[in-house]
Amino acid sequence: MTGLTGLTGLTRRRLLLLGGAGLAGAGVAVLAGCSTASTSSVSEPEEFDTPLPIPPLAESRWEAGTRTFSLRAQEGSWQFQPGAHGASTWGFNGPYGGPTLRANVGERVAVEVGNDLPEATSTHWHGMHLPAEMDGGPHQMVEPGDTWRAEWVIGQAPCTLWYHPHPHGQTERHVYRGLAGMFWLDDPQDPVTQALPHTYAVDDVPVIIGDKTFDDQGELVIDDGGNEVGLLGDVVTVNGVAGARLEVTTTLVRLRILNASTARIYSLGIADRSMLMIASDGGLLRSPLELERVRLSPGERAEVLVALDPGDDVRLHSFEPELGSVAAPFAVGANDSFDVLRLVAADELAASAEVPEQLASFGLDAAAVGPRRRFELEDREINGARMDMARIDETVELGDTEMWTVVNRNLFPHNFHVHDVQFEVRSIDGEPPPPELAGRKDTVYLEPQREYELLMQFIDYTDPQMPYMYHCHLLRHEDEGMMGQFVVVQPGERADPSMISGHGGH
Ligand code: C2O
Ligand code: CU
Ligand code: CU
Repeated sequence: MTGLTGLTGLTRRRLLLLGGAGLAGAGVAVLAGCSTASTSSVSEPEEFDTPLPIPPLAESRWEAGTRTFSLRAQEGSWQFQPGAHGASTWGFNGPYGGPTLRANVGERVAVEVGNDLPEATSTHWHGMHLPAEMDGGPHQMVEPGDTWRAEWVIGQAPCTLWYHPHPHGQTERHVYRGLAGMFWLDDPQDPVTQALPHTYAVDDVPVIIGDKTFDDQGELVIDDGGNEVGLLGDVVTVNGVAGARLEVTTTLVRLRILNASTARIYSLGIADRSMLMIASDGGLLRSPLELERVRLSPGERAEVLVALDPGDDVRLHSFEPELGSVAAPFAVGANDSFDVLRLVAADELAASAEVPEQLASFGLDAAAVGPRRRFELEDREINGARMDMARIDETVELGDTEMWTVVNRNLFPHNFHVHDVQFEVRSIDGEPPPPELAGRKDTVYLEPQREYELLMQFIDYTDPQMPYMYHCHLLRHEDEGMMGQFVVVQPGERADPSMISGHGGH
């Protein structure tokens, strides 16, 4: 932990030295140190011909009415590009990434997580509604050689979730080395699910985006280039490879896109056509939404349908992302534009079913709002404090509907993620959110200097001793303490930090 903190201190000082008065200077510093053209700092592969690797579906077994999975975090070696040197990586059940877990709504699931790494880690189920002690956050560390078992009942709508380590101060490095996989929740009873493309790896495809930087030996390095957001890699990968190509055999393909990057924000689209967005982080939208681009900050997901004609050869592209009023657009990736994934349609395509006009109905009752809380994100602090593993910042009562107002006080990107719940973005600076942000969310990008009202309800689980987290999901920021802890308690009950303060964690 000291190593990383030390490095970070150095980076900050370097930034101050080079930049003098801060952000505008940081942009110049990065520009001067960058060898590529000023338009984009991402180097695209020449060819997009590497077959897109598909994470295998995780096997599960039934044990006492529980669908049980096994994951092992392990070291390995992985080729990010054809012909490249195998880089040292970490993965679950393999050298890089992790299998896709799938479970049905209402099922009891268990995951046994083993750790064969040389250091402690944890496995967090991002977006999952579950008891705090099963959350896999920084209080559920798994020591080398140990196994941790998490068990809960799937009690939320079908959606695309993911899992990744959450060790305090080390999350960026663990995720970046490859520890990330998807967790899909299904509802086989739901006719809408049946009508949408749903055959794994055929017309329903995991697209896990991560940007990487390599040293001369081809090893992964976390080089943040001296900017405020953390690492912006110059090689962009999908499911672990750069220049990937997906063969499509149906008229509609469903891409379940996850931004698993540590800091980079993407604006994804296909140049010559619109897409149909059908789901955000926590499940289907109310109805399909035709759009040109979808912006995803780290941790966010979107499901989109792309329509193809026989023989089409198109690229999922990341356009220069609209990041709001950032002070140094270049430094935070706002000028980067590059291809992400090639989609090649076969000469004959099987016809996909028609997309239903109504996808899902949901909605929290804004009239029921009880407590309101406000979270100001600035530098590496939330409400003026950095993460303290022994401190419980907020106490929420079971059953309450709450409105959280979240503000990014900086002129560079942050986002905001809340564990345990899916929230609804009710307003941005008092205005209704754009339709792509009107669904169920667990992570939202925060444009600088704007106010986001998030509506959420806390149900099912209480634990006065074990907190959930809320934090910025730019992993460098999270590691540097831009995180807080909340417990959910029975009405009238008090938070009890005695257990977590016992093993303080710092
Ligand atoms: Cu995706 Cu607290 O994490
Ligand atoms: Cu999470
Ligand atoms: Cu941040």
